[in-house]
Amino acid sequence: MSAMKTEDAANGKSTANGGGVVYEEGGVTVLSPTDLSEMLAAGTKEVHEKAENTEFVKDFLKGRIRKELFKLGHVALYFTYSAMEEEIERNKEHPQFAPLYFPHELHRRDALARDLEFFYGEDWEDQISISPATQRYVDRIHQIGHEQPALLVAHAYTRYMGDLSGGQVLRKVAQRAMKLPPTGEGLNFYEFDGIHSAKAFKQLYRSRMNELELDTHTKEKIVEEAILAFQFNVEIFGELEEVGKTLQDDVLDAAPAHGEMQGDISQCPYYAAKMAASGGSSYICQMAMTVLKNPSGQVLLAAWIAALAGLAAWYLM
Ligand code: HEM
Repeated sequence: MSAMKTEDAANGKSTANGGGVVYEEGGVTVLSPTDLSEMLAAGTKEVHEKAENTEFVKDFLKGRIRKELFKLGHVALYFTYSAMEEEIERNKEHPQFAPLYFPHELHRRDALARDLEFFYGEDWEDQISISPATQRYVDRIHQIGHEQPALLVAHAYTRYMGDLSGGQVLRKVAQRAMKLPPTGEGLNFYEFDGIHSAKAFKQLYRSRMNELELDTHTKEKIVEEAILAFQFNVEIFGELEEVGKTLQDDVLDAAPAHGEMQGDISQCPYYAAKMAASGGSSYICQMAMTVLKNPSGQVLLAAWIAALAGLAAWYLM
């Protein structure tokens, strides 16, 4: 990979760092492929694409968001950030993490707690529980925090840089799809009040990562750990997809724009209204299917069949 140039609002000086050299060239910082930020971006490229292509994430981007799944996703994030920020606090003075300690700007635990209170009510803590995939992620974060604090960088990078990169888009999609209040309730997770420019902050964070005193072996271990962190996220998405299969369609709260609807025209309310007005037989079929899909419809139908069978038996007696 060739060296990449980037504007560096935060750095403004030449630094030697663990084999990689960052130096100034006409006001821009030239990054070396051995800089941790470069190694992380290159090393996680493939697994990043994998995360982007999970069904859960693709559905989310299309605005097909089931509120129940969104809430469970937030629960997973709450446990993940609680573990990560606990370990960050424990290691805030560790020389291989201290320059990345930005609690005011980055920490998400409290924002997630506010969102969960909005979704589940005051007793939200009694209502939530940790899923198996989230538990594995959390266990790993605690293990790293205790045994190899330098690798905590990988976990912080994977989540915070990701949140700063796609957060605003996801916030807008979620708000529109779930018709959440424009005032931001339920979406605090996506709000970084302490950060004016996500782009400038990411540059600062990258330059801080590059200034850490790390040898090449440790940098490689951090990249491996970041890949693992992405995989934990992918596992959680997989778990949410499985839960999604068990939910009734009517839990689908999203209201995607017309062009975003894929294939199933019966989802269009205008189509249903038009068919009802014209008395089309396919609409009657659709109605029957809707009744059958609905558990209370199934009970009603079973009751009708039982009554008819009883009537036939009485007539034949
Ligand atoms: C909806 C799916 C996703 C899309 C479309 C997406 C898109 C992007 C884009 C465009 C960037 C580059 C931003 C920039 O150059 O400033 C980025 C960066 C990043 N994303 Fe994602 N992303 C997605 C999902 C994820 C997930 C699930 C994670 C991890 C859990 C993640 C972690 C990251 C990280 C760590 C970076 C920083 C890369 C770097 O600059 O080194 N992303 N993402």
